[in-house]
Amino acid sequence: MTVTDSAPPGLGTGGGLVEEEAHRFRVHRSTMTSPEIHALELKRVFAHSWLYVGHESEVRNPGDYVRRPVGGRPVFMVRSVKSGVVRVFHNTCTHRGAVVCRKDAGNAKVFQCFYHAWSFDTEGRLVGVPGREAYGEELDLDALGLRPVVRTASYRGFVFASFDPDIVELDDYLAGAKEYLDLAADGLGDAEIISGTNQYAIDANWKLLVENSIDGYHAAPTHDTYFKYLVALGTDLRSGVDGIGRSLGNGHAVIDYHAPWGRPVAKWEPMFGDAAREEIDRIRAELVETYGEERAMRMAETNRNLFIYPNLIINDIMAVTVRTFMPRSASSMEVTAWELAPRDEMPQLRQRRLDSFLTFLGPGGFATPDDIEALESCQQGFRSGGVEWSDISRGMAREPRADDEEQMRSFWRRWNTQMTSSDGAGR
Ligand code: FES
Ligand SMILES: [Fe+2]
Repeated sequence: MTVTDSAPPGLGTGGGLVEEEAHRFRVHRSTMTSPEIHALELKRVFAHSWLYVGHESEVRNPGDYVRRPVGGRPVFMVRSVKSGVVRVFHNTCTHRGAVVCRKDAGNAKVFQCFYHAWSFDTEGRLVGVPGREAYGEELDLDALGLRPVVRTASYRGFVFASFDPDIVELDDYLAGAKEYLDLAADGLGDAEIISGTNQYAIDANWKLLVENSIDGYHAAPTHDTYFKYLVALGTDLRSGVDGIGRSLGNGHAVIDYHAPWGRPVAKWEPMFGDAAREEIDRIRAELVETYGEERAMRMAETNRNLFIYPNLIINDIMAVTVRTFMPRSASSMEVTAWELAPRDEMPQLRQRRLDSFLTFLGPGGFATPDDIEALESCQQGFRSGGVEWSDISRGMAREPRADDEEQMRSFWRRWNTQMTSSDGAGR
């Protein structure tokens, strides 16, 4: 089959862009550059997956709301004043379209559209129409309520929505990823999203960030400066980074590994300072008591970069970062990241955690600028042409490890199924 950038092969008819045979796995680079493929991804991947909306702790009190784009569409999540249920609404007025929720976060009993002042309560019901008498008896207020996103569900506090009415239940969708969400949630206990976000844009295809987020062997060459910084602070790097890479079903994947850095839950290191040592020991003992030695050690000692298909990353490492991203075009994306932490955390540990969120994981930190540079460099490399395929075969000839590429292959297999399936959704 002839392959060119302008005419991607096989879409809608099966195969062509992702090829797998024996110990060879390769992906056609038009998947990273083609506007047609980007347009098709919006229809097939983002319209037929469960997408992360936010964390229940962001709307802890009745009337709390956050607004944000999900799958490129404006929506908002609000906790009902009446029932306490968390709902996700399309952020568009049923009158003539204006965005109804106009602040990123807040608390409200009523959302009044700024255009002509129709008002909706936190259940989405239309409760106020100026000039009501002009409509006579026929105006059906019940039929003109805000539209909830057709499917919403949450797991361990993580709220997801889908625009596909026929998508499988969230529980089934998450498959093996649930085990890892449980580890993160249990490790944190009563958790909250710390208010404030990291928001940035990258001039690269969004799938490069999927790959990078579960890429266990770029750390040493790409983040050399950070490792030198850790050594300068007294961290012992001799143990290195070792672990496994796993496919978790439905395109989800994880790398699960030991690394030299400390973890606020609950592995002390010199950077945390002596005063925090006792507190970390206490947290560790509590984990052992609640979850038993083996599970507690997993929570305390191992790091997990969890990818939930198609665009959610939960990095449970020297801090717990929740990161989602959305393509703006074939060659650019927007990224938003939040920090998840135990609510009652000791101030010193909270400070360390926030420091890690900024100094390693943040857009101005030690790691993220390196990663952005790598991703943008790949995107530039694609423009050079001459090479049509990227190779993602590492580890196919052995039991896959964290420093192999099996976890990326699991993403690409699911992506390929959704992009080529005859039902247009990959069910
Ligand atoms: S568009 Fe909202 S009240 Fe008219
Ligand atoms: Fe990285």
